[in-house]
Amino acid sequence: MGSRGCALLLLGAALPLLGSAAVSPEQSLAWGPGLEAGLALPVRYFYIQAVSATGRNFSRSPPGRTQFKVVIKALSPKETTRIYTPHPLDRNDGTFLMRYRMYGSVRKGLKIEILYGDKHVAQSPYILKGPVYHEYCDCPEEDPEIWQNVFSCPSQEPQITKDFISFPTIDLQRMFKEIPSKFSQTRGAIVHYTILNNRIYRRSLGKYTDFKMFSDEMLLSLARKVHLPNVEFYLNVGDWPVEYRKANDTPGPIPIISWCGSVDSRDIVLPTYDITHSTLETLRGVTNDLLSIQGNTGPFWDNKTEQALFRGRDSREERLHLVKLSKENPELLDAGITGYFFFREKEKELGKVPLMGFFDFFKVENDEEAQKIAKEGQSVARELLQPHRLYCYYYKVLQKYAERQASKPEIRDGMELVPQPDDRDSVCSCHRKKPLREDL
Ligand SMILES: *[C@@H]1O[C@H](CO)[C@@H](O)[C@H](O)[C@H]1NC(C)=O
Ligand SMILES: *[C@@H]1O[C@H](CO)[C@@H](O)[C@H](O)[C@H]1NC(C)=O
Repeated sequence: MGSRGCALLLLGAALPLLGSAAVSPEQSLAWGPGLEAGLALPVRYFYIQAVSATGRNFSRSPPGRTQFKVVIKALSPKETTRIYTPHPLDRNDGTFLMRYRMYGSVRKGLKIEILYGDKHVAQSPYILKGPVYHEYCDCPEEDPEIWQNVFSCPSQEPQITKDFISFPTIDLQRMFKEIPSKFSQTRGAIVHYTILNNRIYRRSLGKYTDFKMFSDEMLLSLARKVHLPNVEFYLNVGDWPVEYRKANDTPGPIPIISWCGSVDSRDIVLPTYDITHSTLETLRGVTNDLLSIQGNTGPFWDNKTEQALFRGRDSREERLHLVKLSKENPELLDAGITGYFFFREKEKELGKVPLMGFFDFFKVENDEEAQKIAKEGQSVARELLQPHRLYCYYYKVLQKYAERQASKPEIRDGMELVPQPDDRDSVCSCHRKKPLREDL
């Protein structure tokens, strides 16, 4: 008798617990740019937050096998298009990242069903009213204000404001004279771009300009989405800033756009090429793009290794110093060079190590503080490094730059057109280019 009463009691106590531990499809949340028709991106994406029946957000993966599932189809059965729809990515914090890549555009729209088991999640099904364009459809919005609204671009980017402080006006003539001799011969990694009527032209100055394939690709992608201002600029595709003169020096600094910056240089920074490239190539074989690594958070905090870690090539001498420090203080720091190119003579002394993941590392003495920094870093990265924010950033830099040009951009000798793709993968009918035909 007594034992049965006890069992009942336990069951009674366990029930509410079970209820609160189960995912509620209706209470769960879904949001993000991939649920909006107008946000044409290489890979569209949105988030799902698992919520319990009692309205509590999950802060870890719900127990058991994940049952969120997403089905995406053209709204009209008459339209067919290939859409790559992998499983939602578990970010191990109760949220999931859903990505999909469209290989063609649809005129009527898309239907997105988000399911948990066989139940609809949040407001599923989501209807994205067409046209919905894919990445390679050349269909720029003429009005940049409209485009920036659709992309929810922030009205200010503090870094951009700061970068342009030294350049109230931009003297293209001076740059045209100075840059080829001053920068391209010593550094050899400058690409000269002119954008006119949303077409992109460029010439390379120097030997090390292969990385222009990444800037070409980003500029072309941006120009397919929004009409770019007429602008002429120099892009430093090397991985070190080049302009160190101060605003009050004579002559003053010139505004070179770079993929890198520092507090003591004047280069105008853009998100670096590998972020840019991985954004464009997400879900196309790039393994460490910024969205997919969100599912890779490593072991739980308590199990992380209390040591700093560095792996990388020998592309800067400071890195070699780091390896020496690590040999002197192996308990604090594990630093190793993964490949030699610039300082080959040092390989014997410092040795070479294989590449490795860093998710197991970096949890130092001030545990609570370090965990807070890691969490905040993660949330800043998740916010700022989203693909649509990258496009906003590139656009803003070009816009600010264009506003300050003192003379008209021109197509210079030796520049060639960088064409938009014109193949099977880019076929689409852009409603902005022809009047939209009413349905017959
Ligand atoms: C639950 O999660 C969503 C999305 O992550 C967030 O916006 C909301 O503020 C959270 N609610 C609570 C009560 O923490
Ligand atoms: C930490 O690692 C141990 C041993 O591998 C494992 O049993 C434990 O579950 C881990 N802790 C967490 C919080 O993941």
